[in-house]
Amino acid sequence: MIREPLLDFQKIEDRVEQIANSFKPVSAKSNNSNWTALPFTPLKPMLPDILYKVVSRRPDYWKEANLKVRTDEAFMECMAKFYKTSKIIGKGAFGTMFDSPRPDCIPNIPKDVKHVAVKVEILSDYYDYYQSPAAVASAYTITKKAASLGVAPNIYDCFISVNENGMPVIIKVYELINGTAWANMEWKSEAQKNRAIADLEKKIIKMNKNGIIHHDLHTENVMVSKSNEVFIVDFDRARLVKEEELVEMPAFNERRPWSSSPSHKLLGPDVLEFVYKTLLEEGSVVPSRPVSQTRKNKKEKRT
Ligand SMILES: Nc1ncnc2c1ncn2[C@@H]1O[C@H](COP(=O)(O)OP(=O)(O)O)[C@@H](O)[C@H]1O
Ligand SMILES: [Mg+2]
Repeated sequence: MIREPLLDFQKIEDRVEQIANSFKPVSAKSNNSNWTALPFTPLKPMLPDILYKVVSRRPDYWKEANLKVRTDEAFMECMAKFYKTSKIIGKGAFGTMFDSPRPDCIPNIPKDVKHVAVKVEILSDYYDYYQSPAAVASAYTITKKAASLGVAPNIYDCFISVNENGMPVIIKVYELINGTAWANMEWKSEAQKNRAIADLEKKIIKMNKNGIIHHDLHTENVMVSKSNEVFIVDFDRARLVKEEELVEMPAFNERRPWSSSPSHKLLGPDVLEFVYKTLLEEGSVVPSRPVSQTRKNKKEKRT
């Protein structure tokens, strides 16, 4: 048994994966989890993330949204080269944007393209609506549509891999815009800025008229190219109007219809409880000792 598992995350992950795979739902309505009543171990708060990490590397988790998982050796070698030869052009909380010479391992880039913009985004935790397979696939489709309207850079590819630390990542490969985010623009003249404002207005109207709501328009998600053409980027939160109409409160009240799919069931509270219980029962994790009475309590008892 794994007795010192808390430091050996690889072992814990492997064991969590085995246990999760052996989970069989008892009935459709087996969702009354007793998770909070289970004894505490230092692993407990981390387990949802570990389970999510394990599940989000599984090809079947992404397959339903038609997203490939690429972790084969040749691909990882190609990515190692990618990290060496590319330049960081933007860094957010989970994602890094690179300017990269066309990587050999990404087949969907048109032949004449020499440089691409590649976004590598770490999968953070399982409640992140925007990183669910359906949401990633939807952002890809909407970006393609925006690109075909001429308001956004094209997206050539989108797939799942792992980074150098084994963390699952979403990789998006875009047409590289040779330009500057609006937020960092140093306008040469009022006239130049006014032309850009007019172009932006035209493009927002075009995008909206074609049923795309961006949901994250701000000055870092608008780029101005060297030839003063405006491009809207980052459609990760975008939705189509017809999808907005399906929810009661657009952008707030998510229904997540895909969460009932088989691979997502592995992230449910009953699986979490099953995995944790099994780890405790087999002794792979050891409950913490009950917290001893505080001095104050002891004093109160004496008097
Ligand atoms: N196609 C592109 N070409 C060049 N730079 C880009 C491109 N798309 C985005 N960027 C730059 O990279 C930054 C981060 O990209 P973005 O998609 O907005 O990711 P994030 O989720 O980190 O906001 C943007 O603010 C923009 O400056
Ligand atoms: Mg952005």
